[in-house]
Formats: sequence, structure tokens, C-alpha cells
Amino acid sequence: MIYEVTNMHYRTVAADEIQKFSQAEQYCFFIDPTDYQPFVDRKMKPEELRGIFSDEGDLLAGLINFPYELYMSGAKVGMGAIAGVVSWPEHRRGGNVGELLIRLMHEEKEKGVPLSGLYPFKQAFYRRYGWEIASAWLTHEIPPEQLAPYRRAEGHVRRFAPGTVDWQVLERIYKAKFAGHLGYKVRETESAWADWPFWGPPAHTAVWYPSPGAEPQGYLIYRFWKDDKGEQALVARELAALTPAAERGLWGYVAQHDSQVRTVRYRTPRDYPVWHLAENTRDVKSTLDAGWMLRFVDFQAAFEQRPWPGAPDASFVIGVADEHLPWNNGTFRLTFEAGRCKVTPAAAETPVLTADQRTWVQIYSGLVRPDQAVRTDHLRCTNLDALHKLVRAIAGQEMWFYEYF
Ligand SMILES: CC(C)(COP(=O)(O)OP(=O)(O)OC[C@H]1O[C@@H](n2cnc3c(N)ncnc32)[C@H](O)[C@@H]1OP(=O)(O)O)[C@@H](O)C(=O)NCCC(=O)NCCS
Repeated sequence: MIYEVTNMHYRTVAADEIQKFSQAEQYCFFIDPTDYQPFVDRKMKPEELRGIFSDEGDLLAGLINFPYELYMSGAKVGMGAIAGVVSWPEHRRGGNVGELLIRLMHEEKEKGVPLSGLYPFKQAFYRRYGWEIASAWLTHEIPPEQLAPYRRAEGHVRRFAPGTVDWQVLERIYKAKFAGHLGYKVRETESAWADWPFWGPPAHTAVWYPSPGAEPQGYLIYRFWKDDKGEQALVARELAALTPAAERGLWGYVAQHDSQVRTVRYRTPRDYPVWHLAENTRDVKSTLDAGWMLRFVDFQAAFEQRPWPGAPDASFVIGVADEHLPWNNGTFRLTFEAGRCKVTPAAAETPVLTADQRTWVQIYSGLVRPDQAVRTDHLRCTNLDALHKLVRAIAGQEMWFYEYF
């Protein structure tokens, strides 16, 4: 069927249209309405929903855009987290979703949100509109016997049944551990913790104390899961330890599940070492996979709002191509000074490092180093000194967050 888009309207979904919106979500993602209702009740806020509507007011396509803030080396940078992108089948391949995404980017720019992130069903679909793979993760499968030495680890662990842990205890540890990192979601409210992790079986929490009654210094959020082969696994969903002793203690706690589970599963950024945990690393299976995609809503704001603690003082001119968002497209001077970056339009100058916005976002997230982008011909370089300075400015961690949305 060919559907002609004649007149469509981009707008926020009204409160009395939420059921209509959630019917599209249920249909498109095969979700059982009973499973979905708690999500609708707790997380679907009309102001975070956008739709393309027909003249008659029918919803043709829709999405959710959660307003996230990410810790970036101590600062907080806004990111719209796009989820639940749907289009009714009779209206597909008419361009509605493309239109929805780009209209949303214009709106986000107006609001001053520099970044947009999403998990793709197909990377090529979102790449066309400027999102690019900007994260990678390793999923480790560790037989619990491999963690046996940690059973003797020091400290004291307290277990909390789902929904019973004090969120402020977790938040203190989480913030102390991750606020200086890149990309972790700011979770300063009770609702942020109540919603995390939302989907899937209930999550238990283990909190580590150096001794009973002392200040807690680490936690692990985990759940049990039957894998594809029907084998029981313990999925370590999120581990935050302020000291190596806390980390050892929490892995020791996990190791005590050897009689219950065949595997311990843990997803980490690429630079988190896990091999030190295992007696025999060959028994640990680690799989590399691409994670979320990112886009600059506003390239200039994204570079300026984030501190650059490792950057040497330097100034050079770069070229950015963005075929969808004209304000990102052009020549800019980047000036790194005292750990901050100033971006100024420099149309009259000649860029020495030039790339598509999608390559710049991969560099920004730390997934791809600038010199790697030059090697793959995604970043054109005419000044090696500028390249080396950019490599130093970017060096360090990759962006990472635990949330799935
Ligand atoms: C994926 C989905 C949202 C696309 O909706 P749509 O209305 O067809 O999107 P659009 O018409 O705006 O598509 C934009 C472009 O991508 C193309 N496209 C559409 N579906 C595609 C697909 N499955 N694979 C590759 N390209 C696709 C369209 O042809 C169009 O290209 P064109 O501009 O050259 O014609 C829709 O198929 C859907 O709801 N699927 C089920 C839920 C889902 O998977 N959502 C995505 C979650 S990340």
C-alpha cells in the first residue's frame, strides 16, 4: 500500500490521547497490555510524548523522549533519550518517523538540550538521520566457581529484597563513583531510582559495608534470569564500589550463588577489567556488542558544556557536516583552555580536521579515537599537531550508562 503524506501535524500527545499512543506501542512492540500498564501509569507523561497526527487527529507515528541529564566529568549535560519509536503499519514508509525525529531535534535545540540518544532496532535506519553508534559494551559470562576466592573477601553485605532499599544510600555511592565519569545518568530523585531498572524481573540489591553499622561503600543491583538454554543466571545489572575492598566483597556475595546459578552475567564498558576476577580467564566468555547511538542536537553546546580535564591548551579549526541540522553544519574554531572548550563559528578559516557530525559524535563519546577515525578515512586531517592535541583532549574513558530505554 502506498500512503501519501498530505497534511501531517507534529505535536505533543494530549493527556486523553495516552491510551491511543500506548495502543500503538503495544502493537508495534508486541507488548502484553497488562505488562505495559505499569509503564503507562508511571512513565508515560504527555509532555514527553510526540506524535505525527493526521488532519483528522489520528496518531500516525509517535515516540517518547525522556529528558535525561548525564554526568560528564563532573558537569551535567542534557540528553533526550528517545524510546518507543512507532508507526502504524498502514502508514509506514511514508516518511512520518523521519519527520518526527528531525522535528524533535529542532524542538530540543530550542530547549537547549545538546545530545540525543537512542537504542536502534536497525542502526542504518537512524544513521540516515544523523545518529551514530557511540557506545560499545562487553557482556561477560562468568561461571560462579571462578569467583570462589572472593567468598573470603572482607566486609559485610546486607541484602535488600526488591523495592526495600533506601534510594539515598544508593544515590550517594552512585554519585561519588560516577559523577566524574562520562555519560552516567544523573539520578538525584527518588523516582529516578524507583524506575530503575524498570523492565524485567524484580531486582535485588546487595549493599557492602566495611563493618556492620559503618558507612556503606558499594552496592550491586542484580536479578535472576533464565537464559536462552533455560539455564539460570545471575545478572549483575549495576555495580558501584567506592573501594577495591567493596568490589571484592560484592563479588564474594555473588560467588555465594554457585549452588543456584550456572552463570553470572555482567555487562561493562570496554575498559572495565574483569579478567582479574577469574581464576581461569578461558572460562569467561566475553562478547563485544554495539550499544546506544548518539547525535549532536547542538554540537557547540555539547562541546562547551562538558569539562575537558585532560585537554592541553590548544586552538584549531574543524569542519562539521550535518545534512539535517543546519546550525551544526560549518567551520568552527575549537579553543581548549584551562580544561574547557570554546566553540566559535569560523566560516572564513580553513578547517584542519573535517568530518561528518556522526564521526564527531563517536569521537566525543570516546568510542572512536581521532587517529582511528583518520585511519578509516572518516576524519580528514591536514595538521598532525591539531590531531595529536585532539587525541589528548579526548583521551580517557568512553561514555557509558546503565540505563536501557
Ligand atoms: C521502524 C518504524 C518506526 C519505521 O516507521 P516508518 O513510518 O516506516 O518510518 P519512515 O517512513 O519515516 O521511514 C524513514 C525511511 O526509512 C525507511 N524505512 C522504513 N522502515 C524501514 C526498515 N524496517 N528498515 C529500513 N528502512 C526502513 C523508509 O522507507 C524511509 O525511507 P525513504 O525516506 O527513503 O522512503 C516502523 O516500522 C515500526 O513502528 N516498527 C515497529 C517498532 C520498531 O521497531 N520501532 C523502532 C524501535 S528502535
